[in-house]
Amino acid sequence: MADGIIVIGAGGFGRETLDVIAAINASTRDSVWDVIGVVDDAPAEIQIERLRDREIRLLGGIDLNRELFDGTHYTVGIGSPGARSRIAEKVEAWGALPAILVHPTAVVGTRVAIAAGSVVCGGAQISTNVQLGRHVQVNPGAIIGHDSVLDDFVSVNPGAIVSGEVTVSGGTLVGAGAIVLQGLAVGAGATIGAGACATRDVDPGTVVVGIPARVLEKHS
Ligand SMILES: CC(C)(COP(=O)(O)OP(=O)(O)OC[C@H]1O[C@@H](n2cnc3c(N)ncnc32)[C@H](O)[C@@H]1OP(=O)(O)O)[C@@H](O)C(=O)NCCC(=O)NCCS
Repeated sequence: MADGIIVIGAGGFGRETLDVIAAINASTRDSVWDVIGVVDDAPAEIQIERLRDREIRLLGGIDLNRELFDGTHYTVGIGSPGARSRIAEKVEAWGALPAILVHPTAVVGTRVAIAAGSVVCGGAQISTNVQLGRHVQVNPGAIIGHDSVLDDFVSVNPGAIVSGEVTVSGGTLVGAGAIVLQGLAVGAGATIGAGACATRDVDPGTVVVGIPARVLEKHS
């Protein structure tokens, strides 16, 4: 029997996560997941319409659904590492169970460890001996090189490349199309701007952009 799952977040990544769930279900003889619905504290009208169009139930705000979370699987479909971590910690304290969701078209190598709550989207490639922490998001087409470690709540946006032997500490966002060169360490809570190329270690909490990546002035 399929396990019930709640998707948190009615926005873009929430609905992409619904696609990951649908693809997992379509790839197996018996469905793995039964989507109970989407919860969102403040969904925009357009997101409400988009969910209605897909006949996905919008269940209301997170707190309103507190009882539903106890013992139920969930996923946080929110790209921001900070928001994702706040919400995950809250619902896990209510007894919710983080699901691991890997799209069937993702290529996942040997000796890959994926911790609870992580989502790997279609077309992503994860090389050998990679560790993904809790609630890591690997977006469509992103590539994670061999022997890399992505700590809890890291987001790797579409088409980004984390090269081999890289360590990305918790809560960091790697922007769309960005590249982190091999062997580097990216500090906790950093942001690597879309299209950047990190050629040196990135300090915790900094925002870097450009090629080669430099700290963005307004954040320095
Ligand atoms: C780097 C980033 C976090 C900066 O956001 P921000 O602090 O709101 O910055 P602003 O938009 O105010 O821009 C500040 C300056 O940085 C520049 N800038 C912003 N993002 C940049 C980037 N990725 N590369 C180079 N320059 C960038 C802006 O042009 C602006 O320059 P100006 O002051 O000369 O006009 C953000 O732009 C980014 O790249 N985020 C990743 C987004 C992403 O991956 N999107 C895909 C989602 S699926």
